[in-house]
Amino acid sequence: MSKRTFYITTPIYYPSNKLHIGNSYTTVAADAMARFKRLTGYDVWFLTGTDEHGQKIERRAQEAGLPPREFVDGIVEWIKDLWEVLDISHDDFIRTSEDRHKTIVQAIFQKFYDQGDIYKGKYEGWYCTPCEAFWTERQAEGQKCPDCGRPVELVSEESYFFRMSKYTERLLEHIEQNPDFIQPTSRKHEMINNFLKPGLEDLCVSRTTFNWGIPVPFDEKHVIYVWLDALSNYITALGYLTQNPEKYDRYWPADVQLIGKDIVRFHTIYWPIFLMALGVPLPRQVFGHGWLLLEEGKMSKSKGNVIDPKVLAAEYGSDAIRYFLLREIPFGSDGVFTPEALIHRINFDLANDLGNLVSRTAVMVEKFFQGVLPAPGPEEGPDADLKALALEVPGAMEALMDKLLFSNALGELWKFISRTNKYIDETTPWILARDEADRARLATVLYNLSESIRFAAILLGPFMPRTPEKIFAQFGIPTDPALRGWESLKAFGASIPGSVVKTGEVLFPRRELPEEGPAGEGKASPEKKEAPAAKRDKAPVPCSGPAAGEGLVSIEDFARLDLRVAEILGAEKVAKADKLLKLILQVGDEERQVVAGIARHFQPEELKGRKILYVANLKPVKLKGVLSQGMILAASDEAGNMALTTVSADIPSGSRVK
Ligand code: ME8
Ligand code: MG
Repeated sequence: MSKRTFYITTPIYYPSNKLHIGNSYTTVAADAMARFKRLTGYDVWFLTGTDEHGQKIERRAQEAGLPPREFVDGIVEWIKDLWEVLDISHDDFIRTSEDRHKTIVQAIFQKFYDQGDIYKGKYEGWYCTPCEAFWTERQAEGQKCPDCGRPVELVSEESYFFRMSKYTERLLEHIEQNPDFIQPTSRKHEMINNFLKPGLEDLCVSRTTFNWGIPVPFDEKHVIYVWLDALSNYITALGYLTQNPEKYDRYWPADVQLIGKDIVRFHTIYWPIFLMALGVPLPRQVFGHGWLLLEEGKMSKSKGNVIDPKVLAAEYGSDAIRYFLLREIPFGSDGVFTPEALIHRINFDLANDLGNLVSRTAVMVEKFFQGVLPAPGPEEGPDADLKALALEVPGAMEALMDKLLFSNALGELWKFISRTNKYIDETTPWILARDEADRARLATVLYNLSESIRFAAILLGPFMPRTPEKIFAQFGIPTDPALRGWESLKAFGASIPGSVVKTGEVLFPRRELPEEGPAGEGKASPEKKEAPAAKRDKAPVPCSGPAAGEGLVSIEDFARLDLRVAEILGAEKVAKADKLLKLILQVGDEERQVVAGIARHFQPEELKGRKILYVANLKPVKLKGVLSQGMILAASDEAGNMALTTVSADIPSGSRVK
């Protein structure tokens, strides 16, 4: 039986500048999707490339004092290297300057002309060169591009036009009959109401005032409009209209075309109309994701306020960058990139939840079983629950990935990782290790932990391709589909007793926040200390750390605390500690464990279900041997009364407090 196919594309990037982390976002997402589909057994084709023609590139080359081809060659090399750095697993990289593309674009243009879809006329109107977009007088209000806000230029030149209006009705019908065609839905409505319903003007599809483009085959003073040229890449790269159309026959129509929200109009109006005119089926889905923003606003290649993804990857590792992009921002929404948010994800999700699970387990197998994975013995207590969740997670993630819900899919995986961490706390293997009579039970616990880690490593692969290799190496899991493939997740227990387990490098070292100076730095300077000292009594927040000696904290210092609303899921006494309670908190979609000194004031039963305020980014510590991740806030008076801080209305756990 032949495999199901899956064709996924990214936009092809303008090699006008180096790419920033926002541009990389689309490609990282597409890569995670491609890898996930390969894992689940699809025959995947994943295309990316560069969009090299047009006035914008020609001008950038002029500014750089280079012929356009030479100018783009350098940046294209840089982009290809970036995809290597980020472990992008594309199957093809198309450059629109390649002959395999140019000749077919000419054939497409000729076909449109021959069948009467293209006619010659004169264009008088506005043009946004950064967007390579034509605008009418009404659209370009105030002589600004309605998309990017930059000034438009008046263009008046002989041009060929494409009869868009001929296809408007058919496109509207297609959009209505295929609710998944344009996603997310908000962008679909925008396209229908702002562009299709008011009626499409014929589109100018050639230019005569510059040369850097594909010549119109029958009229060489014209070059083909760069968007007609660029959009065609999705089929020219497959060999459409060539002697070798096997890939086209096999993979077209695309299953998902991923793009940023700024180019939805080109991909959901022009592109499907061109395809209709060619008599080619439309892609199954075009998904316009949101922007990755900086705190000061939109990043832009030309503004220069960009984050260089190669620098970030060198500093933090490409897996961490990929994880951050896919986890932090719900796909479709805008998200903000800050180094603090990245470090937060690295420290909590990767170093704490995942890294500690792997290292704790490997250390225990080394220590208690001389580094040889034991065969499982008797089953008890939480085992069934852990196994049931392990078997559920792959399917749950697959369903979410089919909707491009990357963040939620990772959320499912992290629920399982948290469940596995909780299993360690429930089974207390270090206590089992004290008694020879518990040896068989200890074997079961460590086997189940190792097997759960194997599940997690496989499921991580599409998102973070490097980390699973390190985990497989530590747990002696060979390159064998029976141990690393999707089918191996259908039953719990594929790990082979006798495998050699060996602790390795720390997967994710904890990171300090970038501006964080050495502790107590502020105290070193006497001048600094003087002035605010008088105000110390009034200091609103006693705070340890650099500003402590000064009484007052800046808003930036305060902002370094990650305060959240948390729901108490459960509480229990900590053995041999009469003041301490161990609390399990729900914080958004994550569970955290906190040890709090409130046992003399509250009974465990009365805490369940309460919503309290929680400091989420304190360095984890052990209190009486129990891990405490953060701190809950409580108030107490001189008489020793204590009250928990709560919220005045029902608000979801995980909500930020500021
Ligand atoms: O538009 N956050 O190329 P491009 C998220 N050549 N995505 C962003 C972003 C940000 N801050 N900034 C840009 C083009 N992007 C055309 C495409 S396809 C036939 C031709 C995304 O290099 C943007 O939305 O300007 C687009 O999807 C991609 O980066 C390439 O942008
Ligand atoms: Mg752009």
